Amino acid sequence: MIEKNASAVSVVVPTFREAGNLEALVSRLDLALSEAVPAWEILVVDDDSGDGIEEVAAKLAESLPVRLEIRSAPRRDLSLSVLRGLELAKYDRIVVMDADLSHPPEMIPEMLSRLGDQKSMVLGSRYLPGSSLDEKWGADRFLQSRLATILTKPLVKCADPMSGFFAVDRRWLPELSALRPIGFKIGLEIMVRCDLPVSEIPIHFQDRSVGRSKMNARQQINYLRHLWRLYLFRFGRPGRIVSFVMVGTGGLIVDLAIFWGFRWLGLDHRVARLISFWSAASWNWWFNRNLTFEARPKRRPGRQWAKFVGGSLLGFAVNYGSYIALTEMIEFFYRNQTLALFCGVALGTASNYLMASLFVFPKLERRRRNS
Ligand code: GDD
Ligand code: MN
Repeated sequence: MIEKNASAVSVVVPTFREAGNLEALVSRLDLALSEAVPAWEILVVDDDSGDGIEEVAAKLAESLPVRLEIRSAPRRDLSLSVLRGLELAKYDRIVVMDADLSHPPEMIPEMLSRLGDQKSMVLGSRYLPGSSLDEKWGADRFLQSRLATILTKPLVKCADPMSGFFAVDRRWLPELSALRPIGFKIGLEIMVRCDLPVSEIPIHFQDRSVGRSKMNARQQINYLRHLWRLYLFRFGRPGRIVSFVMVGTGGLIVDLAIFWGFRWLGLDHRVARLISFWSAASWNWWFNRNLTFEARPKRRPGRQWAKFVGGSLLGFAVNYGSYIALTEMIEFFYRNQTLALFCGVALGTASNYLMASLFVFPKLERRRRNS
């Protein structure tokens, strides 16, 4: 027995339609862990796959420490399943891994001795000297993975922050309710929000041979949403301002498209400007609610929209008022209405940010977590 591993470990495995992989996984874990740690368990958190995993788990549990938790959430989610596992695990030292045998259980003892009882997170990494990837990994998946990794550079310094194979000690984690992941990257979430030093061990990543990957376009969009959240968490108000301006830039494009559209249809430019303004305001409300201020307490959408639009009256006054003033008073702007529109939008944006942050999406309920 390795001395540093003198304490027990819970292995948390999120599953969705992995019944066919469980037996092989458990027997490899058994071989890898029985000698290395005094006690272990595998806690499978299944998203109600209905693929017979209950029977497989019950059978295995007759002779090995296998537990199954079936989550019945309205929407399946890998990260939330892992959080549930972290909550229910019997032991504080926890390894999280995939069920599909992509992650070699044989590396766990080394990961645990690296972890010791330190405040840190130990990753099984695919991108270190000594790591290797299954040959079946096509160029597209490789490129996607690399691109996804590059986007995390401002947040974490490690070779493979995307890895789903890691060891942590629960005693160093904050209240689990402080974690707000979406989708696949629970490891990244913990790294960023818990600010744990990361240490990496090279692994061979084996592509699954049974079942199918659950990674899809939806998960990729979730990943971008999740990243946005983490950026906002890490960069605070400056991050929110950048986000607000980016959302506003999208709104401006909507504004322009609708303005030009109606001008093209022959509508009076002042009326066109009014319509395009309200459309853009609704766009901005929706994206600010779901991106810029997503960590603020959620309000009922209808009322909040009304508030946003109502609260934009000041921005509207600044924006529309300056547009009218510029086009009526200055010949140049009368001839260059688009430029006048830009000026109005810039002034309106500053006042809108303040209104949004203080009035439409206020922090208020201070006991709830805001980033
Ligand atoms: N409970 C639950 N709910 N489990 C899920 C869900 C879900 O919605 N979606 C996937 N899983 C489980 C799978 O059953 C598997 O055990 C593990 O999560 C990983 O899912 P895969 O479908 O095999 O994903 P992958 O191989 O594309 O992604 C893995 O490798 C990535 C690196 O490329 C994961 O480890 C990712 O976290 C990792 O970034
Ligand atoms: Mn996989």
